[in-house]
Amino acid sequence: MKYCSYLCAMETSFYHIPVLLQPALEGLNIRRDGTYVDVTLGGGGHSRAILSQLQGGRLFSFDQDADAIEKCSALREEAPNGNDWTLVRSNFRYLHNWMRYYEVDGVDGILADLGVSSHHLDAAERGFSFRADAPLDMRMNQSAQRSAADIINSYTAEQLTSIFRLYGELHQASRLATAIVRARANRQIDTTLQLTELLTPLLGRDREKKDLARAFQALRIEVNGEMEALRCMLTAAVQLLRPGGRLVVIAYHSLEDRMVKNLMRSGNVEGQTEQDVFGRCDVPFRLIGKPVVADDDELQRNPRSRSARMRIAEKL
Ligand SMILES: C[S@@+](CC[C@H](N)C(=O)[O-])C[C@H]1O[C@@H](n2cnc3c(N)ncnc32)[C@H](O)[C@@H]1O
Repeated sequence: MKYCSYLCAMETSFYHIPVLLQPALEGLNIRRDGTYVDVTLGGGGHSRAILSQLQGGRLFSFDQDADAIEKCSALREEAPNGNDWTLVRSNFRYLHNWMRYYEVDGVDGILADLGVSSHHLDAAERGFSFRADAPLDMRMNQSAQRSAADIINSYTAEQLTSIFRLYGELHQASRLATAIVRARANRQIDTTLQLTELLTPLLGRDREKKDLARAFQALRIEVNGEMEALRCMLTAAVQLLRPGGRLVVIAYHSLEDRMVKNLMRSGNVEGQTEQDVFGRCDVPFRLIGKPVVADDDELQRNPRSRSARMRIAEKL
């Protein structure tokens, strides 16, 4: 019941409803005077809940999206301890550098709630959703150079196939890639509708929407270099967390989740455990509980929580 009123207030926010809010807070095991980093600010749901538990502590929240920073700058003004909250407009791949910049040499908890926010999907003009016609953009960082249209119109069939296969787990990856390469020989593919109309006839009728969502997801992951950013951030987290500090990661895709699982089990995203001369494995984390998924109540309130999987680890 502790967070009930807080949760209700969050649900009225149309920017993003935070996923697994209460289990994430419990997972962080917050110390009032501790230093925390939320690397995925979004609508600020998780960040504000962390901030509300701090007294004499500090919170750094990252987002590469200007909309998230703008929205949360206003929330920061209203927060009673807003001065303890630093917003950083940056890709979280630079976590290590930013913490050095702020002269922070250790933190007590890091939260990552990966992927896009509801705002990204709902703001049609950002081009993340196949449900609305818009320029094929999909950049979380609006100043980034490369859009989804650049990739669709320049990658080879092999490159497109591997994106759809790897990041979208689509069986028909090669057919989709070939169709794109053929179509663009006649005319550039610049909009979400053009891409949707091209791909839809190649997808099974019963899975059409699911597969379209996967194709768009695959493209988005490539546009934003999401796997490489995650690798850099997780690697930095190992160094940055103090003994007893918690790493809490909510992933929405099996590739992301595998990286997180590997890191928490072995200390590196490849999952290679190193042994000392006595054959003992040198691991930097202790796993806390099993992976957490949304319960029925949350699934009903927020269908976007359905693919969320949260893992928690404590630095040794
Ligand atoms: C799922 S939302 C987070 C929602 C947030 N937990 C809340 O309660 O509102 C993910 C956010 O992380 C941001 N993001 C994703 N990848 C990022 C990266 N590599 N660097 C910085 N921000 C990133 C996105 O722009 C998005 O706003």
